[in-house]
Order: sequence, then structure tokens, then C-alpha cells
Amino acid sequence: MITRTSFRVVTICLCAICCASCGPRMRTQPSIQPYERAMPQMPTGTVPTRGDLSAFTLEQSRLTDNPLPLSEKNLRNGRIYYNYYCVMCHGEDGRGNGPVGQGFVPKPTDLTTSGIAQLNAGQVYLRMLTGTGHEPVMDQTMLRDHRWPLVMYVQQLSKRVPEESSVRTREEAIEERQ
Ligand code: HEC
Repeated sequence: MITRTSFRVVTICLCAICCASCGPRMRTQPSIQPYERAMPQMPTGTVPTRGDLSAFTLEQSRLTDNPLPLSEKNLRNGRIYYNYYCVMCHGEDGRGNGPVGQGFVPKPTDLTTSGIAQLNAGQVYLRMLTGTGHEPVMDQTMLRDHRWPLVMYVQQLSKRVPEESSVRTREEAIEERQ
């Protein structure tokens, strides 16, 4: 008899607990709606673990030189990487006339101008990775090894240093292969 009563008590308690834990409260409880949450504050001294941009503030970019020596090999690689990442917007000769770029506002910069020639390597590097048409894709897709040769090539486009003839154009490369 005692066990039967206690069994009933336990069953009633369990039902009560179940009823108390469900029902409309789930819907009415405080919850965080989309966009309500404040962005978490990073502890001071936190640094990004990927991407090279962390190494560059605008100020630092003015003081940064290309770590690679100016050489025909680096320029040639730069030209190859230019065809990977830039040619569709900035065009074969860098004048900003690539077919994909024509849909952009503003249109891709003419990389052969004196404005680009006045930039140092770090500035070209930073601009190549940021800005309209570049961010955030460029920093995420461009291999680290490709960056500085590319900067060298872009600078050569604007400064024409060294002789243009030392770098093959795409047509010349195709001809060579045939
Ligand atoms: C999807 C199209 C697109 C691609 C690909 C692209 N660019 Fe650009 N680029 C633009 C546009 C549009 C601008 C002009 C807008 C601006 O200045 O932010 C520009 C501007 C620039 C500038 C001048 C930026 C400034 O602040 O004066 C440089 C340098 C440059 N691009 C280099 C490159 C290099 C190098 C590559 C390849 C690694 C590249 N871009 C690939 C669209 C593109």
C-alpha cells in the first residue's frame, strides 16, 4: 500500500516537473534576436591568425619595401600571377580595360599611370589587397608567394623598369610554346 502511494506521489511529481518545464514559457522566455547581440570585444593584444594585412597599417605600408630583389625571374613570375588574378579587370597591358572591370564603379585603375608609379611597394601591396573589386576576395584567394612578385610587376608596369622587353607578354609566351 505504502509503495503504491509513493509510486503515485512520484508519478504526480514527475508529471508536475514535465508540465512546468514545457508549455508556453519556451516562447516567452528572454532570447537574443538576430542582430540584437553586440559584437564581442576582443581582448587587448589580440592579433589575427590569418591574412597578411595585419602586418600593414596605412602608415607602415609607406615604409615597406619589396622583400624580394628586383630580378627578371621575379618580374616574369609577377606577370604570370598578374594573368591569374588581375588581367580580367586591369587588362593585358594594365590600362584598366579588362572586360570584367568595365562593370565596376569606379572602373579599374590604369596601372601604368604616374599615380601608381609614385607609390612604394608596401602601398601597392596594400591597395592590391583592399578597395573596390579587391576586398575581401583578394586577400583570401591570393597565395602569399604570389604577392610580392606581383607588386614588383605592377610597379614595373608604371615605371617601365627594367626594359619592357625583358618580360614576355602573353602573346610572346604562347608563340614560344608553339
Ligand atoms: C574584379 C576586378 C578587379 C580585379 C580582379 C583587380 N582589380 Fe585592381 N582595381 C579594381 C577597381 C574597380 C579599382 C578602382 C577602385 C579603387 O581604386 O578602389 C582597382 C584599383 C587598383 C589599384 C589602385 C588602388 C588605389 O587605391 O589607387 C591597384 C594598385 C590595383 N587595383 C591593383 C590590382 C592588382 C595588382 C590586381 C591583381 C592582383 C587587381 N588590382 C585585381 C578592380 C579589380
